[in-house]
Amino acid sequence: MTDTIFVTGASGHLGRAIVNHLLAKGVAATRIVAGTRNTDKLADLAAKGVAVRQADFDDPAGLEKAFAGAGTVLVISTDALDGAGTRQRQHKAAIAAAARAGVKRIAYTSLPNAATSKVSFAPDHFQSEEAVKATGLPHLIFRDNWYSENLFMSLPQALKTGQWYTSAAGGRTAYVARDDIAAAIAGALANPPAASTTYTLAGPEALTNAEVAALATKILGKPIQVVDLTDEQLAGGMKAAGVPEAFIPTFVSFDAAARAGDLAAVTDDVETLSGRKSQRLAAFLEANKAALLG
Ligand SMILES: NC(=O)c1ccc[n+]([C@@H]2O[C@H](COP(=O)([O-])OP(=O)(O)OC[C@H]3O[C@@H](n4cnc5c(N)ncnc54)[C@H](OP(=O)(O)O)[C@@H]3O)[C@@H](O)[C@H]2O)c1
Repeated sequence: MTDTIFVTGASGHLGRAIVNHLLAKGVAATRIVAGTRNTDKLADLAAKGVAVRQADFDDPAGLEKAFAGAGTVLVISTDALDGAGTRQRQHKAAIAAAARAGVKRIAYTSLPNAATSKVSFAPDHFQSEEAVKATGLPHLIFRDNWYSENLFMSLPQALKTGQWYTSAAGGRTAYVARDDIAAAIAGALANPPAASTTYTLAGPEALTNAEVAALATKILGKPIQVVDLTDEQLAGGMKAAGVPEAFIPTFVSFDAAARAGDLAAVTDDVETLSGRKSQRLAAFLEANKAALLG
């Protein structure tokens, strides 16, 4: 049992892809445990021989039982963005439960420059990283950069209106395909390094929004003009467009982080760990043409 790999959040996009990449890399299904709040969603993985267990970060006692006997536990960060500390509490509960359960290694999905990033929820990730380190256990931290898939939040609207409002002011983002992150994390979990390591899982190129817009215009055949705004103007535009007020500071912080260079680092960690070429943004746009054009 001690060489098992427990993936939490296994019904999410990233968690499911990590489990499938582990299987594709030849890790025996009997070594993999998929944890989720709703086990019904993982019938496909159970059918492949993967053990499926209930794992809810809001249930620390249940988590400790679920993690018992595991080798490595990957704590995938949750999607609780309520600004009320829920996410940090959940991550800390999962990390503490893994330590109490006596696991051999803890892994965690964070974000680049967690200590200083302007992304509004970076402190949650930084505190979670610190909690992992404080266990004293061997650990792996995967600082995942912005998914290329995040462009679904901005590009479809920009393609419709022809304008992309941003306060990133020429800041660069090294977008990375979510499946490339999954392949890299699976590679590291399947063949963990001897020492505790922090990786920055970023894409192969860092682009400004103007460069992304130019690529999208070329590949999707619709012109997009980037309109540079201040953070305050961007927030005002979001409010006028009906974006719920509670989320506006978070969304604006993404552009502030890009402007500050927090998302710009290009590393070769993804290719090294996954053993394959990372997808460039042009290929992502090509592959998602129909969905982006809606
Ligand atoms: N780098 C980026 O650009 C980026 C973008 C979006 C999100 N993220 C972060 O990366 C994570 C994985 O991304 P994704 O695309 O797979 O997101 P997703 O498909 O939205 O999945 C959400 C994840 O949160 C888990 N979760 C929520 N509440 C939980 C709880 N109480 N206990 C345990 N797990 C809980 C879900 O697990 P189950 O439903 O299986 O229980 C699932 O794995 C996200 O949750 C978020 O923290 C990063």
